[in-house]
Amino acid sequence: MRIPFIAGNWKMNLTLSEAENFVKIVSGRLPDADQIETAIAASPLFLPSMIKLSKDSPLKIAAQNCFYKDNGAYTGEVSPMTLKDIGVSYVILGHSERRRYFHETNKMINLKVLSVLKNGMSPIIGCDEKMSKIKSNHHMKWLDNPVSEALRGVSAEDMSKVLIAYEPSWAIGTGRAASKEEAEDGCSLIRTTISELYSPQIADQVRILYGGSVSDKNVANLMQCHDIDGVLAGKASLQPEKFLKLLNYQ
Ligand code: G3P
Repeated sequence: MRIPFIAGNWKMNLTLSEAENFVKIVSGRLPDADQIETAIAASPLFLPSMIKLSKDSPLKIAAQNCFYKDNGAYTGEVSPMTLKDIGVSYVILGHSERRRYFHETNKMINLKVLSVLKNGMSPIIGCDEKMSKIKSNHHMKWLDNPVSEALRGVSAEDMSKVLIAYEPSWAIGTGRAASKEEAEDGCSLIRTTISELYSPQIADQVRILYGGSVSDKNVANLMQCHDIDGVLAGKASLQPEKFLKLLNYQ
């Protein structure tokens, strides 16, 4: 059984005191981790404090990016080894904003995925909607294949730690979320791809999230889909009460 995963990606928002206040408010009001897993991806500057404040709660703290080297002369970068050292559990990699504004390539994202796994954390791999419908049978196919590129060299064993987030760029921050059908089509293509790369058993275990204008209005609908195991919310995760509403989707 795949445990639902509801996560927030704060992007470059909030202040340290707002972040701390958020954790204090939500920490005692979260479901047990064996019911729903919850995580917040925040600025690296907020992480140590958030980790300290959430240590007795099921809330997991995530980073939004990292470099693929553990240390060295890479001015301005964040080391995956350091993230692990301070207690980070998940790292979002290859978010469409990283690809668009910082020109991250599939190759670079793959190196980061390998490095995050090597350091014992879980990558949440962002996957844009470079897919289209095959007109004849209405199935989806890839225009390029960010999933197999990102997973190059990832062992079958490590796949139990990998999450993939399907985030169509037209749905991010636009208020126009994918319909249930569109979101399910994308997530199911990702699962099929994992099945082809590894095995149906492994594909069945990997958690696939949907992201893009998720709100308390559409989360329940999205969570009904067979291949959607959770959501990655941006705007709807910035306020504690709104985030808690996402968790009460059932
Ligand atoms: O990673 C989540 C994100 O890209 C979606 O943002 O604000 O559309 O929920 P938002």
